[in-house]
Parts: sequence; structure tokens; C-alpha cells
Amino acid sequence: MKIFVMFAILSIPLFCAAEEQGTAGLTAHDIVDNRTTLDLSQRMKHRLLSNMREQLAATRTIIGLLAQDKFERASSTARAKLGTTEDLKQVYDSSKNEDLKKLGQAANSSSVDLAMALNSKDLKKSLLALKNSMGYCLECHRKFRR
Ligand code: HEC
Repeated sequence: MKIFVMFAILSIPLFCAAEEQGTAGLTAHDIVDNRTTLDLSQRMKHRLLSNMREQLAATRTIIGLLAQDKFERASSTARAKLGTTEDLKQVYDSSKNEDLKKLGQAANSSSVDLAMALNSKDLKKSLLALKNSMGYCLECHRKFRR
């Protein structure tokens, strides 16, 4: 009996951990994808995704540069790699979705703000601008899929 009670108490954290992941007990049928599809051509899908992976890598680079007080390099990375780069512009141009274009423009101006905040060499201001800019990554991913 004692052993059983001990086992029950010890397994509580395991159940809680599964619960926290938010996927406990879900089957494929329960997962609904509400995002709007952009219906991009194969070529544009490829262009979008490779640009996106670069944006993720650039974000990581910027964080690393901030930790080393290399604000100018962080700023030029933001200017060159975030926002509407040449290949991303082609993706937006090929899409008929106006909301995507608007969100793309807003994301672009947030990356210009980020580059300016980084230029000011103010760490707090820079981190807030990065947080704000990354809000657009989240917003667009919540709304759209290729
Ligand atoms: C204006 C829209 C938009 C913005 C802004 C945006 N993304 Fe994306 N991203 C997309 C879409 C659309 C996809 C494809 C999602 C899908 O089909 O499931 C995507 C996919 C990705 C992927 C997956 C790539 C792969 O190979 O599967 C990564 C990583 C990514 N984005 C990173 C970022 C980061 C980091 C930011 C911000 C710095 C960002 N994105 C901003 C639209 C956007």
C-alpha cells in the first residue's frame, strides 16, 4: 500500500508535464489549421521558406551580436536580412493577398525601426525593438501558410 501511494505521488509531475505541452491526448483529427493559404507557386514557396530560414538565422545572429555589444554589425544584419528583402518582395508581388502585403510592409518598417534602435547602442531600446519586430513574425505565422 505504502509503495502504491509513493508511486501515485511520484507520478503527478509526469502527468502535469504532459498537460503543459498542450498536446496530450490529441489525435491528428483534433488539429485544425485555420491559417489562410497563400497559394504560392512551387518556386515562390521555395523562395519564401529559404528567406524565412535566413530571417530566423539573422535574428539569432543579432542576439549574439547584442551580447557582445556589437551594435553596428547587429544593425547592418537587421537592415540586410530582416524585413522585405529582394526575394521576399518577389513573393509578395506574386501573391494576390492584400493582407499579406500590408503585414509584410509593417514587418519591414519594424525592421527599419530595429536597425535604428540598434544604431543608438541602447541595449534596452534594442531589445524592445527586437521584441516588437518579432511580433510580426508571430502575427504573420498565425494568419498565413504557404
Ligand atoms: C508577412 C508574413 C511573414 C512574416 C512577417 C514572417 N514570416 Fe516566416 N513564414 C511566413 C509564411 C507564410 C511561412 C510558411 C508557413 C507554412 O506554410 O506553414 C513562414 C515560415 C517560416 C519558417 C519556416 C521555414 C521552413 O523552412 O519551413 C521560419 C523559420 C520563419 N518563417 C521565420 C520567420 C522569422 C524569424 C520572422 C521574423 C523575423 C518571420 N518568419 C516573419 C510568413 C511570414
